[in-house]
Amino acid sequence: MKIIRISIILSSILLSSAVSATEVNQEQMLQESRQAIQQFAKHLKGELKAAMKKGGPVNAIQVCNEKAMDITASESQKSSVTLSRTSLKTRNPENTPEAWEKTVLQQFEERKSKGEALKKMEFSEIVEVKGKKQFRYMKAMGISQACLHCHGEKALPDVSAELNKLYPDDKATGYKKGDLRGAIVLIKDLN
Ligand code: HEC
Repeated sequence: MKIIRISIILSSILLSSAVSATEVNQEQMLQESRQAIQQFAKHLKGELKAAMKKGGPVNAIQVCNEKAMDITASESQKSSVTLSRTSLKTRNPENTPEAWEKTVLQQFEERKSKGEALKKMEFSEIVEVKGKKQFRYMKAMGISQACLHCHGEKALPDVSAELNKLYPDDKATGYKKGDLRGAIVLIKDLN
């Protein structure tokens, strides 16, 4: 697959005084992406929180296991984009990063090690894939206290057992608060 990088660099868009039409579009897409992802994360976290409250982390695994995909699909449809989650250490092999996603995740780790906060860390570009333009956006996801039940260094025995059963190839444990867990990815086809 031949990928041609057309443009990126958010800061240059924001700083340039004579903003062209495509740059305005990219800025607008960026705003829309942030909104769509915020909605997505809110939806997912809401379901997770409710399930934790109802039946603890073992019950909540089911939300991540079964509902995460549904929520991803429905939120994608709402904003006519493709949303997904990925990580350098995946739990579900279906979330294994594409080559470009892996590169961005590695850049996120590098940016973090240089002191940049995860909260606002993002990446965007417009590329051409097989003659079609595509807007790509990634938003970093950090580990908070709530994630440690299922992604931390030590899970409760019943949680561990359930995770091992569902994900024999689980690489997504051993995280500490503040670590980069992965990213939410948004892709929008432009033509
Ligand atoms: C109740 C257990 C549980 C909690 C709490 C939890 N997760 Fe997960 N997480 C899972 C499961 C199960 C999967 C696999 C989902 C799937 O099959 O797609 C997963 C997958 C993911 C993925 C997709 C990449 C991969 O590894 O497959 C990301 C990113 C992620 N979790 C981030 C988080 C973050 C950030 C938090 C805290 C806000 C969190 N998770 C809290 C259980 C949990």
